[in-house]
Amino acid sequence: MNPKREQQTIVVGVTGGIGAYKACELVRDLMRRGFRVKVVMTEAATRFVTPLTFRTLTGEPVAVSLWADEPDSRVHHISLAEEADVVVLAPCTANVIAKLAHGRADDMLTTTVLAAEAPVIVAPAMNTHMWRKDITQANVSALRARGFVFIEPGKGALACGDVGEGRLADPATIADAAEAEARRARDLAGVHVLVTAGPTHEPLDPVRFIGNRSSGKTGFAIAEEAARRGARVSLVTGPVSLPDPFGVEVVRVTTALQMRAAAFARFEAADVVIASAAVADFRPATFASGKIKKSDAPDAVVLARNPDILAELGEANDGRAILVGFAAETSDVVAYAREKLAAKRLDLVVANDVSGELGFETEENRVVFVSADSAEERPVLDKRVIARELLDRVAALVSARKAR
Ligand SMILES: Cc1cc2nc3c(=O)[nH]c(=O)nc-3n(C[C@H](O)[C@H](O)[C@H](O)COP(=O)(O)O)c2cc1C
Repeated sequence: MNPKREQQTIVVGVTGGIGAYKACELVRDLMRRGFRVKVVMTEAATRFVTPLTFRTLTGEPVAVSLWADEPDSRVHHISLAEEADVVVLAPCTANVIAKLAHGRADDMLTTTVLAAEAPVIVAPAMNTHMWRKDITQANVSALRARGFVFIEPGKGALACGDVGEGRLADPATIADAAEAEARRARDLAGVHVLVTAGPTHEPLDPVRFIGNRSSGKTGFAIAEEAARRGARVSLVTGPVSLPDPFGVEVVRVTTALQMRAAAFARFEAADVVIASAAVADFRPATFASGKIKKSDAPDAVVLARNPDILAELGEANDGRAILVGFAAETSDVVAYAREKLAAKRLDLVVANDVSGELGFETEENRVVFVSADSAEERPVLDKRVIARELLDRVAALVSARKAR
């Protein structure tokens, strides 16, 4: 992705399905919408439509072989992956879905997709039975969970003679989705986002602590997605076992007091603060420098109250930064979220009900986006999708504040 380039690039991957001819219409539509389009095809796709067709439509070379001689010295699948603001696979075969779900990269198209940091939209097309097979559906779920965006195939008469699900979605619908992703791809450019994530651990002695159940997955997904959309991102995280997201400043802390110091050190420069950390409300009032022996166990642990970092940030904020909080509740979720919104002077609260199965250590969650005048209930979604939806709302708040 090249932030200096005005015109955005969409890489269209065409695979070996009977709907490949519809990719011609998609390519033309994307070009009409002002995108530069580069096409990559599988060998099988070239049996259905020739590379010459796409070359003529786009005015760009069409990539088919990993081993072709390239005019410039760059490795082609890597340069293509880097150029892509969005990758669209249309039509996408059952075979390519299966390969991508397993991280395979044995041709130009799958290698480019694996190398790409850009969002990938998949528009599957295949025979109904192939689409309905549990293995295909499992592969689709695996890719969805990794943030691939699927455009469901339509129902109707299929080229193979069957009637049912499996038809490539309308090219205009695919182009709409690509355009929306392309807009997202840069909508946080120039914005500094500060994210807090994970639990805090409050030590009792060198080996024991008070903490809470938080995996940090949501905060990490938000940081990763914000960076992908062009933001400068600082992620202050408590102890979690997640790797650093690409292109993000990561500050690893242990306690609430350390988290407060790290967050405040970055607050001045931040345009947006998203506080997803589950900060421990209390810490042991005293810390034993040596391990407390079992035989010396105290009858009670005296607790001291930890600072409410988000409330302090809300107080320090002069209306400049957009503040987003999280509220994990077990009842009256929206009512508590509204209270939190007002009390801490927040712009948005992401509320979730942790009384059931979902929440702390799961891949998915069900949230309500609560602002002063709305409460949007969302279905159960992957945490990466929640991150994307949250940042859609944050990007809208950022542009509304800029317009003021
Ligand atoms: C006439 C014909 C039409 C086909 N249409 C489809 C299709 O719509 N979807 C699909 O998943 N596979 C389809 N296939 C099977 C794929 O071409 C085959 O799985 C091939 O290996 C896919 O290669 P690729 O995934 O690398 O493009 C079709 C095969 C033939 C011969």
